[in-house]
Amino acid sequence: MKRFISLLLVALMLMSLSGCSGNKVICAYEEETPSLYEQFEQWFGVGAAINSWNLDGSSEQYKTITKHFNVFVYENESKPDATHPSEDRYNFANVDKFVEFGEQTGATLRGHTLLWHSQCPDWFFFDSNGNYVAPEVLLERIDEHVTTIVSRYAGKIDTWDVVNEVISDGAGLRDSHWYNVVGDYDGDGDKYDYIEQAFRSARAADPDARLIINDYNMEWSESKTISMYLAVKQMLSEGVPIDGVGLQMHIGPDLDVAKLRSNIEILLKLRDINPDFVIEVTEMDMNMTGSTKEDFEKQAAKYAEMFQLFIDLAEEGVLDTVVFWGFYDGASWLNKSDADNYPMLFDREFMTKPAFWSVLEVAENNKK
Ligand code: G3I
Repeated sequence: MKRFISLLLVALMLMSLSGCSGNKVICAYEEETPSLYEQFEQWFGVGAAINSWNLDGSSEQYKTITKHFNVFVYENESKPDATHPSEDRYNFANVDKFVEFGEQTGATLRGHTLLWHSQCPDWFFFDSNGNYVAPEVLLERIDEHVTTIVSRYAGKIDTWDVVNEVISDGAGLRDSHWYNVVGDYDGDGDKYDYIEQAFRSARAADPDARLIINDYNMEWSESKTISMYLAVKQMLSEGVPIDGVGLQMHIGPDLDVAKLRSNIEILLKLRDINPDFVIEVTEMDMNMTGSTKEDFEKQAAKYAEMFQLFIDLAEEGVLDTVVFWGFYDGASWLNKSDADNYPMLFDREFMTKPAFWSVLEVAENNKK
């Protein structure tokens, strides 16, 4: 505790000396930097999206991720285009490497994702003439794809984003090949059938894996949150094994946290049907193109507000996982060729940013 506070003071002093503009505070992977996940261990796991090239044990990336995170997910390499590029061909090499890394480190592993409208090859949906396949053909392919992957990693990948981004930005379900081909196959009046198949196959392939329905914009959009709530409510009432909703949490420094909290309350009504239903934070980052001292201070304050909410949710027993989408500013999907972004807690040179220290302060303040 004393050590932590003196570290914090040194960091704050350095920050004020450097004016935060370069964020050259303290190296993220060096011994004197407190470990992010260790500070939050009593509430939730803290994770990062990584890529197989981060797994070289001598790299700065490797040292940073193993020090600060205890939950991992692949950013792209466990998506359908990577794992199952053609009907008769699976690529397991990269995911096998990920699982080996998980076994070495004892980390919790997430699988992202079994079904998505993006990064998914066309062979799933089309015959050799370019026409949609019959619904039963796609349902069979979903079953085969999900069963093969989930059973291979049963007991090793703890949580699956079974389906990703299936809710429309308007209302109801997203218009996708999955949705169009399968439709209301069972004739019960809803078109959740392809999602139901994916969840049922996943549960059968690994009864112990946590099965998540993952999506974006529920952080601020009440209508999207209600669409998610209604879809999951219907599926849960039909016995579809959905264990939780993943909130991607791609946010900005102006997010209204009270609104986020009220959207989460909507989703938590699903606990009336499944008392163990959870919320996960699955892809957090904070989109920021400015890099002034004020920008970093604003970012630090919003990250602190977010982590206070996460602690509150953890103490209410509804959240045990917070995952970042990346881990340092130098490698985020938010960087564009003509504009750098600054979304993470570590900068381009693996130095801690003000936001790192602000979330650690939240942990410290909540320790009893
Ligand atoms: O693999 C090809 C490579 O062969 C090619 O040479 C290169 C040329 O651009 O592209 C490579 O593919 C890129 C792929 O990432 C792997 O690096 C794609 O262009 C690029 O579009 C793709 O972006 C990913 C994006 O999902 C795709 O929609 C991002 O890295 C990844 O961070 C992002 O992740 C998504 C989550 O899965 C779902 N939620 C939103 C999140 C952010 O968009």
